[in-house]
Amino acid sequence: MKVVIPAAGLGTRFLPATKSQPKEMLPVWDRPVIQYVIEEAVASGADDILIVTGRGKRALEDHFDLSPDFDEPGKFPEVQRLDELVRRTRIHYVRQREPLGLGDAIRLARSHTGREAFGVLLGDTINVCDPPLLRQLWQRYEARNAPWIAVEEVAEDKVRDYGIVEGEEIAPGEVRCRRLLEKPLPSQTPSRLGITGAYVLTPEIYDALDATHVDAHHELQITDALQRMAETTAVYATRFNGIRYDIGDRFLWLKTNLEFAWRDPACRAKLRPVLEGLTDEQPRSTTGPSDSARARSGAKRPAR
Ligand code: UTP
Repeated sequence: MKVVIPAAGLGTRFLPATKSQPKEMLPVWDRPVIQYVIEEAVASGADDILIVTGRGKRALEDHFDLSPDFDEPGKFPEVQRLDELVRRTRIHYVRQREPLGLGDAIRLARSHTGREAFGVLLGDTINVCDPPLLRQLWQRYEARNAPWIAVEEVAEDKVRDYGIVEGEEIAPGEVRCRRLLEKPLPSQTPSRLGITGAYVLTPEIYDALDATHVDAHHELQITDALQRMAETTAVYATRFNGIRYDIGDRFLWLKTNLEFAWRDPACRAKLRPVLEGLTDEQPRSTTGPSDSARARSGAKRPAR
């Protein structure tokens, strides 16, 4: 299976952390988020991965290169595991010259995937479930020979942040899509099924993308292209039955890190007193804005 991983976005919600380093390289517990994404792809059966990169994203290519500096036997087991992961698949790169949306990023995979169906996972999102989400989508694709989208129920006040799927339930947790809307108002749709960012797409998506107009932000949306496809062919969605971690802003990233650290028993013992020790009071002796404000006001630094 070929898998396309768009990772060329600007990460504006996480500035300045993402000003000169890729959002996809931010660590989640012990490895960059994109490594989890590649692990999911490989566990789902990917033997060929295309990462869509862009300006300032070269660290991604270095991360998945082999590591002669760290290949001393037994010394850096984490790096050796990463090298083994890299050897189990072929990783290719294509550059998106401008971040013109997820649809535009996927369109760049056209000559790579050719007439084959392919999986898509987002470079900043970890899906935790068993069996892996993309494998589940691929099995459904093989059964119906049509595109599949992972969706989850979203709260009413979050509808505006998602692509939303409307349709008829054809089996428990499976929907044939009638209408797909990109970031609608809650009043514009009765559906609360939000697109999570994992797909299996068929090659017809490329013609649909070519025929789709960019949105008001000059971005080409994959949801709009899928809507176009759904007008003439079957497009399906399935409810995601695992946990999705999108690390797109600082709160989501921190929450993801806390949850992954909490799962590690050795860390949990150290983390618990730290969390329990947090209070509503402002720290009295840290550096940062409060100290500089104090300096400006001429106040004395509190004793440590
Ligand atoms: P996001 O919309 O979450 O990423 O796209 P973003 O655009 O970097 O985020 P903000 O809104 O500016 O903070 C999901 C995934 O799609 C990739 C991103 O890199 C991310 O991994 N993407 C997005 C592209 O590859 N190209 C694009 O034009 C947009």
